[in-house]
Amino acid sequence: MSDITIARTRAEFAAAAGRATVAFVPTMGALHDGHVQLLKHARPLGEVLVASIFVNPTQFAPGEDFEDYPRTFVADLERCAEAGVDIVFAPSVETMYPSGADATITVDPGPLGSILEGAERPTHFRGVLTVVAKLFGLVRPDVAVLGEKDYQQLTLIRQMARELAFGVEIVGCPTVREADGLAMSSRNRYLAGDERTRAAAISAALRAGVAAGPDGAEAVLNAAQSVLDDADITPDYLVLTNPQLGDPELGQEARLLVAARVGKPRLLDNTALTIGAQKPGS
Ligand code: PAJ
Repeated sequence: MSDITIARTRAEFAAAAGRATVAFVPTMGALHDGHVQLLKHARPLGEVLVASIFVNPTQFAPGEDFEDYPRTFVADLERCAEAGVDIVFAPSVETMYPSGADATITVDPGPLGSILEGAERPTHFRGVLTVVAKLFGLVRPDVAVLGEKDYQQLTLIRQMARELAFGVEIVGCPTVREADGLAMSSRNRYLAGDERTRAAAISAALRAGVAAGPDGAEAVLNAAQSVLDDADITPDYLVLTNPQLGDPELGQEARLLVAARVGKPRLLDNTALTIGAQKPGS
């Protein structure tokens, strides 16, 4: 009896089992400063820091850029080493999909998976959640760090971890931006000519929305839309939600999300904001 250890938390369990705590950052490689920030954020959260690099075929629809997705493995390893990563997990497609990518068991994202990005890309989040579930099974992290840049993805992974009881804590990390505000993304390299300058209007639109917050929801959307109009950008969506991606409530924390194609790449961005009660008569 006296040798028995009672563990009441995962950390206590890991210590009792002689297992190091694991912090995990899943990526598709082509690492930029946004990914590095995630790794630095994750470093103190576990005894072992694991980064995965896997370009996941099931989250790309036919005709999307799976084949062309940038693959920069050697440079990625260097960035991982600089950020203090202990283990890079870079599995093959066969390791991740032993029955084949078309024959795998999948995770159904539920209703949140078919709005916003899911409306544009109906199979995307099924692919994301399926691969993240598999990565969690292989890496067995205690904590996983994901970027707020992909806010719907972060929200869905958080929901999956909770509802499927994966026992992994999901931590969100603020979006890392270029000097002009453009959210860093592996796909920014496809912005050609003046597209790169125009793309800055996406984050400028969000800032305009935040500034209009006290004037209410309609003012937020109008302010953001007019910045996009000035840059000749037609968004796929520009929406105001609550932090769980449901309907926003006046006077509450909210999220403003935008997606727009600028030239070839489709760019995503979002921000937290507070919307005030609507002014009378406005
Ligand atoms: P990837 O696009 O490589 O992104 C990996 C992680 O980096 C995600 O959590 C993403 O939100 C975060 N990230 C990307 N750009 C960022 C930025 N500018 N600032 C902060 N964080 C940023 O997202 C994926 O890969 C995949 O869908 C994945 C979760 C790995 C599943 O395949």
